Amino acid sequence: MTDGESGVVASNLVQAYSSGRKLWGKADEFRAVDRVSLTIAEGETLGIVGESGSGKSTLGRMIAGIEAPTSGTVSFWGQRYAKVGSPDWRRQRRDVQVVFQNPAAVVDPRWTILAQVREALTTHEALAASEADDKAQAMLALVGLGTMSNRLPHQLSGGQLQRAVIARALVLKPRLVICDEAVSALDVSVQAQIINMMLELRERLNLSLMFISHDLSVVRHISHRVGVMHAGQLLEIGDSRTLFENPQHDYTRRLLAAIPADSPRQRRERDMNAFAPLAAASSPSPIQA
Ligand SMILES: Nc1ncnc2c1ncn2[C@@H]1O[C@H](COP(=O)(O)OP(=O)(O)O)[C@@H](O)[C@H]1O
Ligand SMILES: [Mg+2]
Repeated sequence: MTDGESGVVASNLVQAYSSGRKLWGKADEFRAVDRVSLTIAEGETLGIVGESGSGKSTLGRMIAGIEAPTSGTVSFWGQRYAKVGSPDWRRQRRDVQVVFQNPAAVVDPRWTILAQVREALTTHEALAASEADDKAQAMLALVGLGTMSNRLPHQLSGGQLQRAVIARALVLKPRLVICDEAVSALDVSVQAQIINMMLELRERLNLSLMFISHDLSVVRHISHRVGVMHAGQLLEIGDSRTLFENPQHDYTRRLLAAIPADSPRQRRERDMNAFAPLAAASSPSPIQA
């Protein structure tokens, strides 16, 4: 487990947004994340699940240091994040990479994927062009795109493009990678391939992973531990198998009931049905699906 020096220790994280309205003379405050504490050990995969709007992405942004918490602290391998935007912060940001849902939104359509992976490297390190090329090419091979490095983004499938984005994140040798719905837009068979690839890469590169998904079946196999978010709070967190076999909260049981055994389509439909009433009952309009 985490000893405070390696890994991540998040304590009492709160992210409060003001609605802009005033209630009884006080600014109306909404807590997207409400007093969440957790750890991620070196080499560990922590899954975070919960319906859309439960605060998963906001939690991920605070742990990535992209967004400072309203209160609470994040210790990242023994260090606090420097002020957002400062030079120290930029250096720290190399160690934690985030992979989002839509790879097309974060690549440059005019550049080959090799050029994009190389560019990520050379903004952080002064490298000879040939060395940067070699490292970028090796990383693309590791994610299964060795023969496609000279393609442009539009010449790749969604799954291939997400692999390229993962290569661009991993080439920086981060300590922690946060996957925020990183496979949610992909077909179920492609999801499985990318999840398996992340499992392998985590081991090979000794990464810590935070794997965020609204879909329990996605985090189930990849996570050592799983945390369940609901309305900004971490309802429960524990060893993956224990949580799945013996959930402590009714809410977790309802999430689990949405994972079924049959076909992907039936599963998806059931997920939709299971999540819709929960989402409607408990969250203000979510900003992303
Ligand atoms: N920058 C922001 N300003 C105001 N509200 C936000 C902001 N970011 C997120 N929220 C709200 O916080 C809640 C949690 O959002 P989010 O962390 O994106 O949830 P999830 O990733 O679980 O879907 C949602 O109700 C969302 O509308
Ligand atoms: Mg989200």
